[in-house]
Amino acid sequence: MRAALIGVAKRYGEREVLRGVDWQIHAGERWALVGPNGSGKTTLLRILAGKEEYDSGDLRRARALRVATVPQEDLAGVQSSARTYLLKAFDQVLKKEAELERLHKDMAEGDHTQATLNAAAEIQDWLLHHGGYTYEMELERCLLGLGFTVEDGARPCRSFSGGEQMRLKLGRALLDPADLLLLDEPGNHLDDTQRGWLGQFLRESPRAFVVVTHDPEILEGAVDHVAFLLDGKLYTFRGDFASFQTQFEEMQKSRERAYDQQQAFISRTEEFIRRYKAGQRSKQARGREKVLSRLERVEAPLRGPEGFALRLTFEALTGEDVLTVRDLKLSLGPSQLHVPKLDLKRGQKVALIGANGSGKTTLLRALTGETAPLEGEMRWGTNVLLAHYDQHQRKLPHGDTLFNTVGNLLKTPNREQIMSHLGAFGFGGARAEQGVGSLSGGERARLHLLAVLLAHANVLLLDEPTNHLDVKAVEMLRESLQSYKGTLVLVSHDEEFLRSVVDQTWAVAGGKVRAAAHYDPRLLEIPAPKVERASAPRPAPPKSRPAASKSPEPVPAKKGAMSKNERFRAEKRKADAEAAVAKLSAEKSALEKRFSDPDAVFQEDWRALHERFEKLKKQLESAEEEWLDATTALEEDDALRGGG
Ligand SMILES: Nc1ncnc2c1ncn2[C@@H]1O[C@H](COP(=O)(O)OP(=O)(O)OP(=O)(O)O)[C@@H](O)[C@H]1O
Ligand SMILES: [Mg+2]
Repeated sequence: MRAALIGVAKRYGEREVLRGVDWQIHAGERWALVGPNGSGKTTLLRILAGKEEYDSGDLRRARALRVATVPQEDLAGVQSSARTYLLKAFDQVLKKEAELERLHKDMAEGDHTQATLNAAAEIQDWLLHHGGYTYEMELERCLLGLGFTVEDGARPCRSFSGGEQMRLKLGRALLDPADLLLLDEPGNHLDDTQRGWLGQFLRESPRAFVVVTHDPEILEGAVDHVAFLLDGKLYTFRGDFASFQTQFEEMQKSRERAYDQQQAFISRTEEFIRRYKAGQRSKQARGREKVLSRLERVEAPLRGPEGFALRLTFEALTGEDVLTVRDLKLSLGPSQLHVPKLDLKRGQKVALIGANGSGKTTLLRALTGETAPLEGEMRWGTNVLLAHYDQHQRKLPHGDTLFNTVGNLLKTPNREQIMSHLGAFGFGGARAEQGVGSLSGGERARLHLLAVLLAHANVLLLDEPTNHLDVKAVEMLRESLQSYKGTLVLVSHDEEFLRSVVDQTWAVAGGKVRAAAHYDPRLLEIPAPKVERASAPRPAPPKSRPAASKSPEPVPAKKGAMSKNERFRAEKRKADAEAAVAKLSAEKSALEKRFSDPDAVFQEDWRALHERFEKLKKQLESAEEEWLDATTALEEDDALRGGG
């Protein structure tokens, strides 16, 4: 056994967050820890890590158990390189390496005693079994998986953005050769690709771990145990996440049935007692009283906390034109982000998409006026009342209570109103006096959403609002945004969430922002336009066959060679296709050339241009397939002729 909690209880003031938690974690077990926001997941993980006090119960850990968590330290002032920082995970290996080096030096200086030779051999063996010869490779793989380049490894830690520093710290924990790895919502700072990589990493990891997340990308196939925390109690399940969900539902159902049956029995009996207690059958009534008092009560079915109601309203409409951007250039550290043209109209809902670090947050901050652009034009329309949900939630006053925070957001605060707002967001009763600084991640996100609601904004800029929120809260938010009548720019890594809310796309890729009048995540895949020489050269026929040909007329499998007529037709098909490929490629490169010229973009509607490009790409693809089909058919025929 690696670690165990026995009857652990923990309270914050009046609130009992953990009420006797039992949990055993054995070597090699892979746990997901789930539960609603504020249920105590972070608290529990910190107790496991030995970083948080608890009021009663017991924490037992195997002797010399090495636990890895994502460090809390601030890298903003750290001068050493990212590589040096990550190498700290291999402290033991590095120590052994140094010892070995010393021994080698002794040997070089003539020490050939058996003791020295033995010591060296022992260390070499240790290194072999503890990743001593692979850690460099592991480090690089981790850098790449978390979205860095190998060269980034040489940069000082402090030169990385806030999000990048979070990823470095995650990397530090992942590389640690710990017996138990504890991860609290590791997906919050990762984009899709990186989350996929993390899922893969965990699937392949031989270590025991506990990960707090609801993200299927990370959970799928990675865990074999699930712990569910609710109302201070921990429920543990064996199996993957999907089977947990089924088991949990079953458990709920049978518990509900048992509970309902017992409740019906209790009320029938109580009725009997009430009726006959004073009459002739008082003896029986007393007997039933005894039965009731001895009855072992079925616990009420588990119910999550109530969701919050989020109705996003505003008073005045904006003008038709909400935002106009022309040729904006923003600084992204060493590089720049170019925004040729954006036109945001009233009521539009835009997905702002792009890989991590591509500049989405920078663009939003420029739009709110938080950072100044290098050059270009940016104009907000009339009557715009903006609310910005910042990913890092820097604007919440950490030192204040919830009550005061909400009070300060209201124009004419009164106690009743403040309490009703807080209650609706799950901070009812005494919790109003809790300090903002002590809120859980999800609670803080909720409070921030409440602040956005109270701003009555007609334009919302939301940067990853679903991070930290539990499943239920995400659903609430989805509904609120769907029915919102204002204008919205939304950053999220959740494609499904975006698809259900937005109708436009701004895609940030390759240092440039492109727009589309519908939701289209593929916009990120368009290759950065290349500047080509004047006359497009005749393209070489496509070399490899595209996967699974979608050609409407597949080449039928033939027993014999083609007839003369068939051969002629196939040859013509090939020639036609070749000509089409040449023509379409020339058109495509001409268009790409125009794409790369920022001036040209404004002489014509960008959207139309982009649509033409998409259409062209598809036509070219099918022409290439046609060419391949015809060529293959001819080659087969050649073979048959040659052989027959
Ligand atoms: N110092 C504190 N004082 C008062 N209450 C606290 C303190 N720290 C945490 N809490 C409360 O304890 C509860 C559990 O917090 P915890 O951070 O463990 O929740 P969580 O399950 O991780 O939530 P989330 O899903 O939002 O991350 C929350 O309601 C939180 O507000
Ligand atoms: Mg938490």
